[in-house]
Amino acid sequence: MCGIVGYTGNQSAAPLLLEGLKKLEYRGYDSAGIAVTEDHSIHISKVTGRIANLCEKTEDGRLTPGTTGIGHTRWATHGAPTEPNAHPHASNDGRFAVVHNGIIENYVELRQELTREGYRFESETDTEVIVHLVEMYYAGDFKKAVMKASNRLRGSYAMGIVCADEPERIFVVREASPLILGVGIGENYFASDVTAMVAYTRNVIYLEDGEFAELTPDFIRIYDCSGREISKPVSRITWDIQAAEKGGYEHFMLKEIMEQPRAAKATITPRIQGGEVVLEGLELDLTDIQKIMITACGSAYYAGCAGKYTIEKLCHLPVQTELASELRYSDPLVDEHTLLIVLSQSGETADTIAAMKECRSRGAKILAIVNVVGSTIAKLADCTLYTWAGPEIAVATTKGYTTQLLVLYLFALYVAKRRNTLEPGQYRRLIGELKGLPKLMQQALDMNPRIPRLAKKYHKAQSMFFIGRNTDYAVALEGALKMKEISYIHAESYAAGELKHGTIALIQEKQPVIALCCNPSVTDKTMSNIVEVKARGAEVLAVAERGNQKIVSLADDMIYVPKVDTLLAACVEIIPLQLLAYYVARENGCDIDKPKNLAKSVTVE
Ligand code: AGP
Repeated sequence: MCGIVGYTGNQSAAPLLLEGLKKLEYRGYDSAGIAVTEDHSIHISKVTGRIANLCEKTEDGRLTPGTTGIGHTRWATHGAPTEPNAHPHASNDGRFAVVHNGIIENYVELRQELTREGYRFESETDTEVIVHLVEMYYAGDFKKAVMKASNRLRGSYAMGIVCADEPERIFVVREASPLILGVGIGENYFASDVTAMVAYTRNVIYLEDGEFAELTPDFIRIYDCSGREISKPVSRITWDIQAAEKGGYEHFMLKEIMEQPRAAKATITPRIQGGEVVLEGLELDLTDIQKIMITACGSAYYAGCAGKYTIEKLCHLPVQTELASELRYSDPLVDEHTLLIVLSQSGETADTIAAMKECRSRGAKILAIVNVVGSTIAKLADCTLYTWAGPEIAVATTKGYTTQLLVLYLFALYVAKRRNTLEPGQYRRLIGELKGLPKLMQQALDMNPRIPRLAKKYHKAQSMFFIGRNTDYAVALEGALKMKEISYIHAESYAAGELKHGTIALIQEKQPVIALCCNPSVTDKTMSNIVEVKARGAEVLAVAERGNQKIVSLADDMIYVPKVDTLLAACVEIIPLQLLAYYVARENGCDIDKPKNLAKSVTVE
């Protein structure tokens, strides 16, 4: 995701801003920039690509004099990674510059209003509306202009703003995106996370949502949303820089598991407006589509397997899921009446790209659902829906998988509404449930504190079976892959109804079986499979909806998840399995963020 930094003090700001941005590189970005105030003007330098390009352009900051400034690393969401879209963004009169991390959900209407007011936009970003609002409200009072502008914004924002009229003052505002202040002596800092400033100060102040602050070299003043000054405690950072990059978590994977509710909110919220699913970018005529094919690799493919149930049930369209590495050589029955949905976190997976090209050559329409803006798959597709999960550093995907599912749910509702295939009230009910998913994902994270203890029980297993039926089986596919790829334990996902056709011969004493029983329409059947494997000595860890008391007497161990509509359940049900795989791998001392033999993006066949 984006990163912001700022400094005001008695040193040259640009070199410090560049060093701070380097510490944020791990967050992933595709462009960067700084703005420094000097002699009542603002000098802005922006580049696409790496911070090194910005260092070269500014000669490590020497070409940008001034002792107050702001900086930004951009992870593109609205608008491709180009120099005009890079931050900082300047007001038309050149008096203000802003850097921002987050998503302004109402930017379209604000952009229209500001354009009508005569403001000129230089970028495609949502962020740019901020700096024009500040200019519009400025009548000599910097603080008032920032407050009025902030009150117009909806969404998530951590932002820093400088003003040429007051070259030593910076205003920062926080709403639903992290923003931390660094307290120095004769100088002060702000940043998206402590890594950017822990080299200069370990005394920090964490702003809360709705708060904003004024920084000068001599003081930091903090205000609540009404503009009343408040006092906040100064905390002492004891982390080392490496731990800070992971937000205090031991591994990026755990950090990314824990940030799934926030990622889910970023994926869903801008796409539900006024009780309607709004999918900007889905400019595809789907009226003559007779079938949908979903193709991807690995976890992305398993997200497609889970999303298939939702799309078929709501849209009454046949959905075929195909592994991209198979599809590309299968002489696929695809034509202009086929919609190909391509799932990919990286947007660079070679097999998936090849499968796309094969299907395009046969006339298929192509929708890509990817996380990396401007990636190869995004560019090749007829249209793209981004997952907006933010950069995913750990090789084993977690938030990439769950946000792909969320976009598939939104897509299913959007298409079903247009095909008029929904039951009465189903659209409104499911939209309500979709909006509640981030909270339910948080509950799934919080309601199983015993998972680390279960990991200690199972981590020496030679093999594991993940069984389930229908949507539970789709989740079992991803649950088994997570276990395999980070703990190196052989794990097989199996349709529970298939066990009796051969595989049950493998069940032996103490064989761990993870049984997914969250789909009410088939839970009883899976419970009889639990009885079958128990009778042959298996050790069963069941995953069930909170409140399912029947299953307790059958399983050796239980993991509970919140009740969710079956068609939306996979993105919640997978969470304890991600945690189980993580803690088992941790027990086994595995290199969790970089598992052996694996790459984050498989760009070769
Ligand atoms: C996920 O945990 C794996 N690392 C892998 O299966 C991955 O999902 C697959 O390589 C597809 O990658 P993509 O989503 O970037 O296309």
